[in-house]
Amino acid sequence: MVDIIAKKRDGAALTKEEIHTFIKGFTDGEIPDYQASALCMAILFKGMNKEEIAILTDEMEHSGGTIDLSGIKGTVVDKHSTGGVGDKTSLAVGPLVAACGAKCAKMSGRGLGHTGGTLDKLEAIPGFRIGLTEKEFIDQVNRIGLCIIGQTAAVDPADKKLYALRDVTATVESIPLIASSIMSKKLASGSDAILLDVKFGAGAFMKTEERALELAKTMVDIGCLLGRDTRAVLTDMDQPLGLAVGNALEVKEAIHTLNGKGPADFVELCISSGAIMLEQAKIVDNEEDGRKLIKKAIDDRSGLAKLVEMVEAQGGDSSYILHPEKFPLAANIIPIKAKQSGYIARIDPLAIGLASMKLGGGREKMDDIIDYAAGVMLTHKVGDKVSEGEVLAYAHTNKNDVMDALNQIDGAFVISKKEVSIPPVVHNYLSGK
Ligand code: URA
Repeated sequence: MVDIIAKKRDGAALTKEEIHTFIKGFTDGEIPDYQASALCMAILFKGMNKEEIAILTDEMEHSGGTIDLSGIKGTVVDKHSTGGVGDKTSLAVGPLVAACGAKCAKMSGRGLGHTGGTLDKLEAIPGFRIGLTEKEFIDQVNRIGLCIIGQTAAVDPADKKLYALRDVTATVESIPLIASSIMSKKLASGSDAILLDVKFGAGAFMKTEERALELAKTMVDIGCLLGRDTRAVLTDMDQPLGLAVGNALEVKEAIHTLNGKGPADFVELCISSGAIMLEQAKIVDNEEDGRKLIKKAIDDRSGLAKLVEMVEAQGGDSSYILHPEKFPLAANIIPIKAKQSGYIARIDPLAIGLASMKLGGGREKMDDIIDYAAGVMLTHKVGDKVSEGEVLAYAHTNKNDVMDALNQIDGAFVISKKEVSIPPVVHNYLSGK
C-alpha cells in the first residue's frame, strides 16, 4: 500500500491490480484508514486518467452485491442528483415518468450538512417504508412502474466506507473520487439507463460550470463505457431549487407541482429531466415529445395518482399526499423581511441549506435526528422585485433559540437597485452520444 500511495503521490497511473488491492483491502478492513486517506489525498492532487477512473468504479461496484433488475420488464431508468438545496426532484419526476409508462427503480440516500436527501423527505410521509427487500423492490416496479428505496448495506460497501472517510479528510471534492462514488452505486443498483443531474454553484460540490462539466463528462463516459445509457444535465445551484427547503415542506412542494402549482424553476427541471428519462426509457423518440407527455401527466394529475400509488405500496399514509395540509407545521414560523426595496440578485443556497439544518431540518452528523417540519420557505426567487418590509422567507422551526439561523437566512439575500434577469435552471445537456 505504501508503494501504491507513493506512485500516485508522484503522479503515475495506477494499474488494475493496484486499484483492486486498495479497494478490496480497504473494504475488508486490512488497509487502515490512514493509508486510505493518504491515497485519497494523492488522488485529489494528482488526479486519475479515464482508465483508472473506470477501473476504480468497476472495483467499487463489485465490492459487494449488485442488484439484478433483469426481472423487470422494459428499460429501467434511474436519476441521480449530485446534491443541492431544495432538491426534491425525484419525488415529482419519478411519479411523472412512471405515469408515462417508464419503469423507474431508484435507490436514494440521506441528507448531510446543507444538502437534503430523498430518503429523509420520503420518511416525512407517515408510515413510508424505505427498506424493502430486493424482491419487493422488483415486484413493485413491475406492478406500478415506480419504487424508491434506501440503498441496501450489501451494495457498494467500498463507497460507504470511503465516502465516510473522505467526508472527514477533506477529500470529497475530487472529480475521480466523486465520479467513481456516484457511478459505482448507480451501476450496482442495476438500471439500464441513468440520468445524472450535476449541480453547480454555491450550494453544490462543484462551484463552477467548468468543474461540473468535467464531472458530468467523466461520469457519462464511465457509464457509456460500462454499457449503460448515461446522460447528464448541468443545472443551477446558485439559489435553492424551488421555494421549499426542509423535508415535509419539500414533499408538499412536490405535491403542489404534481397538482400543476409548482414554482417555475422546479417545474422546468421536472419537465426537462422527465423528458430525457422518457427518451432513455424508449417511450418517446425525442425530448420534445417527452416534454409534452410529462406536461400532460401534470395536467391530468396522473403523476399525482402515481405518487399516491407508490406511497400506498410502500406502507405510507396517502391521505397526506391528497391533503398536504395534514403535514404538521412547526410551532414557530418566523418571517424574514427585506431591509430595502429592489430586485433579488442572490439567494445563497449554502446559507439557506445551513440555516435549514440549524432550524432542525438537517443533520450535522450522520446520526443526528431530523425534525421533518423544520426548514425554510422562500417567498421569492432571484429576479423578483420586492419592497422594503416585504417577507422574503419564513423560517419553520420547533426550536426556540434560532437567532443564528435567522441571521443566516437574512444574510443569504442580496437586493440590488438594478433589474436582475432570471437565471436558467438547465444550463447544458450531455446526451452521451
Ligand atoms: N455524492 C456521492 O454519492 N458521492 C460523492 O462522492 C459525492 C456526492
